[in-house]
Amino acid sequence: MSSPDLVVVDHPLVQHKLTLMREQGRSTSEFRQLLREISQLLAYEITRDLPLTTKSIETPLTSMEAPVLDGKKLALVSILRAGNGLLDGVLDLIPAARVGFVGLYRDEETLQPVQYYLKLPHELDRRRVIVVDPMLATGNSAAAAIDLLKEAGATEISFLCLLAAPEGIERLHQAHPDVQIVTASVDSHLNDVGYIVPGLGDAGDRMFGTA
Ligand code: URA
Repeated sequence: MSSPDLVVVDHPLVQHKLTLMREQGRSTSEFRQLLREISQLLAYEITRDLPLTTKSIETPLTSMEAPVLDGKKLALVSILRAGNGLLDGVLDLIPAARVGFVGLYRDEETLQPVQYYLKLPHELDRRRVIVVDPMLATGNSAAAAIDLLKEAGATEISFLCLLAAPEGIERLHQAHPDVQIVTASVDSHLNDVGYIVPGLGDAGDRMFGTA
């Protein structure tokens, strides 16, 4: 199912952990721990094409030209609040990344995003930006967040989520065809209140124990 603009991470560890996360009855702490672990694996995948250069180093035995990351620095942007669950695991792998936050809540009647917070790193135009939000449902919040990032100068953006609905993928690709989506699963559909089916329920409530 993967294509250049949609990558589905089918690694067995990702798929196994995702199944555990979906299960009803999983405790908040288990859910959060699994999310952290799966985020690290997804971060590994989304950074797979980062450019490398080399630098001269001395090992205890000899000198060598060794690979190091090159190119644009990274910025992570979390869509509050559920994005923060993905953020922690991604930061485990990329601790030097700058971090921004977009606060959007979903109007439950219109399903449209309403902005209540925005704090972004400087010089987004000089960074590769990874937007994190576990659930790509209608795609409205993702598209709105990426609108804001582009207004702030970002030109190289990818979107990292745990689950995506086909409706959300289509909406995001229509609004931002240049943005690659990386996900652990494309689920069946959205229900009539905008939840992903089969999904895992409300990701924010499950990770913060607020259900
Ligand atoms: N947000 C969630 O937390 N879950 C969904 O299924 C859809 C949006």
